[in-house]
Parts: sequence; structure tokens; C-alpha cells
Amino acid sequence: MSHDMSEDKLPEPHGSAGEVADHGNPFADPGLPAHEPRRTDIDERAAKRAERQVSLMFVISMIATIGFIASYVAIDPDRIVYIFPLGHVSALNFALGLTLGVALFMIGAGAVHWARTLMSDVEMPSERHPIEASDEVRNDVIEQFKTGAAESGFGRRKMIRNTLIGSMALVPLSGVVLLRDLGPLPEKKLQETGWREATPAKPLALVNMSTMQPMKPEDLVVGSLTFAMPEGLTTHDEDFQQRIAKDALMLVRIAPEDIKDDKSKDLGFEGILAYSKICTHVGCPISLYEQQTHHALCPCHQSTFDLADGARVIFGPAGHPLPQLKITTDDKGNLVATGDFEKPVGPSFWERAR
Ligand code: FES
Repeated sequence: MSHDMSEDKLPEPHGSAGEVADHGNPFADPGLPAHEPRRTDIDERAAKRAERQVSLMFVISMIATIGFIASYVAIDPDRIVYIFPLGHVSALNFALGLTLGVALFMIGAGAVHWARTLMSDVEMPSERHPIEASDEVRNDVIEQFKTGAAESGFGRRKMIRNTLIGSMALVPLSGVVLLRDLGPLPEKKLQETGWREATPAKPLALVNMSTMQPMKPEDLVVGSLTFAMPEGLTTHDEDFQQRIAKDALMLVRIAPEDIKDDKSKDLGFEGILAYSKICTHVGCPISLYEQQTHHALCPCHQSTFDLADGARVIFGPAGHPLPQLKITTDDKGNLVATGDFEKPVGPSFWERAR
């Protein structure tokens, strides 16, 4: 049976409001629903109120940006505060995050509220067209853009326009003030760690960071990797994060005959070598160890260190071997350090001779 498509009664592509073009066709375009004017379209007082609300959000954004800059200048970077439910956090980071978050959120919320209450919400169907638009279509788009700009009230609603410009102008200042963090250099801050308190007369025990117990050589089997910190440091200390960022140790046990670097072997104890866990590229904590090759890998930019060869860099952007800590045992048989690292930990490129 032949079927003449021309006989199908196709609906208008975009029916008038509320119109259902063809009840007999299950795929008929139902058309657009009737346009409902919003309260702000018919009540000038409601429109004014919405305008004030939008402006208020932009003003809050401006205040939050000023708060960001004030926090950056006024809050001590080392100050730790307790914030429920986050626990102990850096007061500066918390204030910067909160104020910048509010500043950006309020710009977004203001723009959404503006669009939903005051900008034109008349539905504008758009026909499918070839990807490359004709001049006629392009001109039409430009006209529509101009119409939309006029209908948004950007020029007419001066209070919104001015407060939006103010909030958008202030937000980038948040990034500008952070440029201050490019300097000054931390001077000698990476040259000394918590291990400096260890002396031959009063050594510091190596504490396992998982069990929080002093470590003995027999706790470490060949091929193992363990993380340690100095005795006396606890996770409850207010400055724990700052201190562990410099003091953390990576302990490996390698069969003594596999250790290629004699100096490294002397600094260790029966094949147990204690290296700084802080990558010498830009300071990420190293946590991946391949026991067959004795390679430690930094997850940030893939710097790879050969722990059997004085933690020499064999791949990646790190410029220096990982500093090694001299260890031995005390009269209780615990692994201890008797001094600080010989070299500054972490990146510390400004403290090293080239
Ligand atoms: S911080 Fe380790 S490779 Fe970049």
C-alpha cells in the first residue's frame, strides 16, 4: 500500500501558545506552552524589589572580595583555628576560601536572579539551520543580541549595572594580591627540621606513623617501605601539619649488597635507609616504591629516585637527590637519629650550591 507523505498533516513547527497542532499524529510538535508573565513583568514594585535583591548580592560579593584581601593581609599564615566539622585548619586558608567562595557565588546568584526575574523570558524558537549561517542569519543574531541586551535592562537598570561592574572589577584583585606569595624566599626554613634536636648524647627515636610506636630494625623486612616521624611529635600538636611537612621520613630496607652508594650505606643501619619523604622538585610527599628496582616515585610530576643509589634522580624534574638522615640504634634497640639532615629538605633550590 502506497503512502503519500504529502498527505500527512504536519504541525506547524512552533505552534502558538498552548496549541496542539495535530491530535492524530503521536509525534506532533505540541508547540510552546502559553507564556505566563511573571510577577515582576506586571508589578513595577516587585521588579524594583528584585532589582534591589540583585544589587544586594553584587554588593555582598564586593564586600567578600574586600574581606579576602583584608584576610590575606591581616591573618597570620601560621595561625590554626578549630572549625566544626573540619577540625584544626589554617585560619588564613579558611578565610580566603570562604570569602572568595562568597564573592564568586554572589556574582553567580545575582546573575541568575536577575535573569529569572527581570530579563525577558519570552520563548524564542530557533529553527535548525546549516552550520554555516548566512549573512542574513548572522545579522538576525546580532539584532537578537542587541534586543536581548536592551531587554536585559543592562543600560536602563543602572543600579544593577553599576554593582555588577563593581563586583566583577573587584574579584580579579583576589588573584592579584596572591602574587605576593611569589616572594620572599623562605630563607633558612627548609634547612632545619625537627630532627635538629637529635644529638649523639640525646638521640630522637624514629616513630612509625601508622602505629605511633618507636621502630626497631627487626620491624623492617628487606623490600619494605615505612613512614616515620620524630619522637615527641603527635598528630594532636597544633603545628603538626607544618612540622610533618619537613620531618617526614621514608624508611626502606635494602639488602646491603644491593646498596650502590657507600656514603648512603654508612648513613643507614644494616641496610635500613632513612630519606626525606619530601620531593625535591616542589615538595610533594613521595609514597610509591618499587621494591625490585628500589625506585621511589613522586606522584606529582613523576620524579623518580633510586633509593639504592643515594636517592639519585633518575627521571623527572627534581633537581636533587632526596636528603638522607643518619640513623643508628639506641641502648633499647630502637632506631634513632643523632642529628638533622645534611642538606635542606624539599625544593630549597635557593639554598644549594649549583
Ligand atoms: S613535586 Fe615531585 S616531581 Fe614535582
